[in-house]
Amino acid sequence: MITLQDKNILVTGASSGIGRQIAITASELGAKLTIIGRNIQKLEETLALLAGDGHKIYVIDLSDAANLTSLISESTAYDGVVFNAGVVEYLPVKFLNENKINSVFATNFDSNVVLSQKLMKNKLLKKGGSLVFVSSISSKLGVPGTAMYTASKAALSAFSKVLASELASQGIRCNSVSPGIIKTAMTEQAAHVVSDEELKKAEAEYPLGYGQPEDVAGLIMYLLSDISKWMTGSDLVIDGGFTLK
Ligand SMILES: NC(=O)c1ccc[n+]([C@@H]2O[C@H](COP(=O)([O-])OP(=O)(O)OC[C@H]3O[C@@H](n4cnc5c(N)ncnc54)[C@H](OP(=O)(O)O)[C@@H]3O)[C@@H](O)[C@H]2O)c1
Repeated sequence: MITLQDKNILVTGASSGIGRQIAITASELGAKLTIIGRNIQKLEETLALLAGDGHKIYVIDLSDAANLTSLISESTAYDGVVFNAGVVEYLPVKFLNENKINSVFATNFDSNVVLSQKLMKNKLLKKGGSLVFVSSISSKLGVPGTAMYTASKAALSAFSKVLASELASQGIRCNSVSPGIIKTAMTEQAAHVVSDEELKKAEAEYPLGYGQPEDVAGLIMYLLSDISKWMTGSDLVIDGGFTLK
């Protein structure tokens, strides 16, 4: 039986999509949540959907490390952290500029490095704790127009492995998950750059169709729980069979 009873769990990017579902499911399994996002209204909507009480919200733009001060000073040690916040940018390499490169990496990679480091330095990770980094199946592919997103997620999966080896002696586990396409606000952005016909063709490549946020949340509950106590340094693909071919 998976339970997160009384575990103190931090989830970034919990104001929508996969992060919102992770927070909801974790609360239903008994966890106390601290949730982060930029949009206060959407974050409060998530808070209202959580089971139980005692949850906290922080409105933080994670792309600037200076914004983490109050979270770090007010937190008590976490049993689990889900590094889920992310942005996508569709642009062929030819059209990239320094600003685009830096902005995608600032949220998808740098912020996760800095947050995990601050949690470690301030002793905010409990022994037996579990860190989960939300990467992407893109990190293993070469989809045109996704260079910065893909590179930032590949960097994140690699970072998770190194951190796993550095934290194993403290009994803290680190794993990443690499989802295929999940229907969220992020995938709606793709509708602006590809036709309906192409989107339908892309979904047909998924033997089980596109995923839903609860599919990823379920896997992450396993990684946050003590049932996965021997799992560390792994990158788990969850893609409805997309990479079978
Ligand atoms: N959907 C997919 O097909 C898919 C597939 C593989 C991996 N992923 C990954 O899954 C994660 C969640 O994506 P999603 O599909 O659920 O997208 P989403 O609905 O757009 O959610 C993204 C979340 O990240 C937050 N966020 C973005 N930039 C932030 C920043 N600078 N500071 C704080 N929060 C920030 C957003 O907060 P606000 O809304 O408050 O700004 C939102 O809560 C991402 O890391 C994404 O790369 C998604």
